[in-house]
Amino acid sequence: MLHEAEEKEEETVKGTKEAILEVIERPGDNRTEGGREGIGTRALENKMELIGLGLSYGDRKVLEDINMPIPARSITAVIGPSGCGKSSLLRCLNRMNELVDGARVEGKVLLDGEDVYANGFDVVGLRRRVGMVFQKPNPFPKSIYENVAYGPRLYGVKQRKVLDRIVEESLRRAALWDEVKDKLGSSALSLSGGQQQRLCIARVLAVQPEVILLDEPCSALDPISTQRIEDLLHELKELYTIVIVTHNMQQAARVSDFTGFITIDEQGSPGRLVEFGETREVFTNPKEKKTEDYITGRFG
Ligand SMILES: Nc1ncnc2c1ncn2[C@@H]1O[C@H](COP(=O)(O)OP(=O)(O)O)[C@@H](O)[C@H]1O
Ligand SMILES: [Mg+2]
Repeated sequence: MLHEAEEKEEETVKGTKEAILEVIERPGDNRTEGGREGIGTRALENKMELIGLGLSYGDRKVLEDINMPIPARSITAVIGPSGCGKSSLLRCLNRMNELVDGARVEGKVLLDGEDVYANGFDVVGLRRRVGMVFQKPNPFPKSIYENVAYGPRLYGVKQRKVLDRIVEESLRRAALWDEVKDKLGSSALSLSGGQQQRLCIARVLAVQPEVILLDEPCSALDPISTQRIEDLLHELKELYTIVIVTHNMQQAARVSDFTGFITIDEQGSPGRLVEFGETREVFTNPKEKKTEDYITGRFG
């Protein structure tokens, strides 16, 4: 079922180096207040950290020895060719791979310094703290209101007044309120794709997550909806830690503060982290030849 959430054929959006540089160099675009120097001056703490993370599906190893920080209140992009394990890695962060038969994880995933795979770790709480948005918008076939109220209800909020407030605030944060405030009772499925995706973000926000994982959240959206989501992510990172998987280089360059590049050496071998660093560095001055080849479109 999860696997089916995967991939329509991966479109080729490899940018030329020039296109990416243009994005990176454009002033005032990249993220932190006060420009890109902001990253260095903000106190950086790691909200999450992957330590020696490995993942197998049955006999097949798909991720090996991934070591990577996820800095707090920043956007971290995970890039790499189709099949390198990006979605799998994301699912390791909130233990969603456990829903896949035969999946086995090695290593550690720290959340505020605690291993989420440790015995006794509260998995339900984990999925609330680390929320997920998928490639294809997947609202429930219920009203807009009920989509957002669903999580809080599940976690025990009953009072209508409180739910109303959560619904409004979540929709506001997801930059959707103005478009839907007069039709909260309408079916979520009547919304456009871009609105549905923002509704899915609102649904995650409604349970007060600390980390938001997004798996190619814009790949089913048009350019204008994509831009709205990118703007929204920029606002949300003030409050949340965000990890976004994308195979769109320009998107990674535009929205993220940090980038991790994963690749596989040959078909069937596990994905490995080739390079992690500040997005600007990774795109303009990569340490590894493999990274450079990938972002300039020579392979993948
Ligand atoms: N549920 C699953 N069961 C078995 N193999 C899977 C499953 N999901 C993904 N895979 C395999 O794991 C590898 C990594 O897949 P995935 O994480 O979807 O990569 P990406 O998101 O980078 O395209 C691929 O070879 C894929 O076929
Ligand atoms: Mg994927």
